[in-house]
Amino acid sequence: MKVYYETELGKLYHGDCLEIIPHLEPVDLVLTDPPYPEDSRFMFSFDKLQIVARQLFKISSVNSWLLSDFFRPGMSNYITSFSQGWVYYDLITAFVVNSMANCSFGIDRFTPSLVFKKGTPKINKKWSNVIQTTRKSHSKGWSGHPSQKYLNVYITYIRMCSKTMDNVLDPFLGSGTTAIACEHLNRQWIGIEIEEKYCEIAAKQIEAEARKPSFSKIKRKEDRLRKLNELERLKGKQAQNHLGLESK
Ligand SMILES: C[S@@+](CC[C@H](N)C(=O)[O-])C[C@H]1O[C@@H](n2cnc3c(N)ncnc32)[C@H](O)[C@@H]1O
Repeated sequence: MKVYYETELGKLYHGDCLEIIPHLEPVDLVLTDPPYPEDSRFMFSFDKLQIVARQLFKISSVNSWLLSDFFRPGMSNYITSFSQGWVYYDLITAFVVNSMANCSFGIDRFTPSLVFKKGTPKINKKWSNVIQTTRKSHSKGWSGHPSQKYLNVYITYIRMCSKTMDNVLDPFLGSGTTAIACEHLNRQWIGIEIEEKYCEIAAKQIEAEARKPSFSKIKRKEDRLRKLNELERLKGKQAQNHLGLESK
């Protein structure tokens, strides 16, 4: 497996997700945006999506979420394809004020996502199935990827469905939106992208986010310290127990 780029929190693999997913470590959340099965560039089909869904189910932890964007006219096919062990849970819609996304119906202001679950995953932040965000500028923050998603929307999804340092996977990473949101929120991440030109775009964008001296970086240090202290405390407790046993 070829690691194209990595940060302290995550890894981007360049290649076909069907070949890479079976080799990954367990993940706590899958957040993704598959290529449209009608898109001839990727030879992608709902049959392939079923295989990916099954692979994702296998490597997901016992209680976990899967969120997937989808192309609205194919909604029932997406639900059938993902229902490979996964149980359909909800539909979330992001309403983007000032959106300029062009689609066959004109300017599209809604980006919907399907939510599936494995086991009984926890909701981390209050659940909301309508999210509103505003696109402030038509060019700022646009990477050049034709289907780049809104960062604020992905940040909200990740907050709702995972906690700090959870492992988040996006098998169709594109311009890196999932990984950027993870860097921002202090989640571990794994991204897979088949096109090298998009790996390059993603790596540049993630690097820019990973370099930001943000609240999350300070928090990451705090989380690590807390984990270390906890380990020290446990070690101390074990040593005390050991001594206690010896003196009896
Ligand atoms: C809809 S786009 C994802 C866009 C992404 N959410 C973003 O915000 O930039 C789907 C991506 O999947 C990639 N892709 C297609 N087939 C793939 C495969 N078999 N394995 C990994 N990536 C693949 C495409 O190159 C494309 O960048």
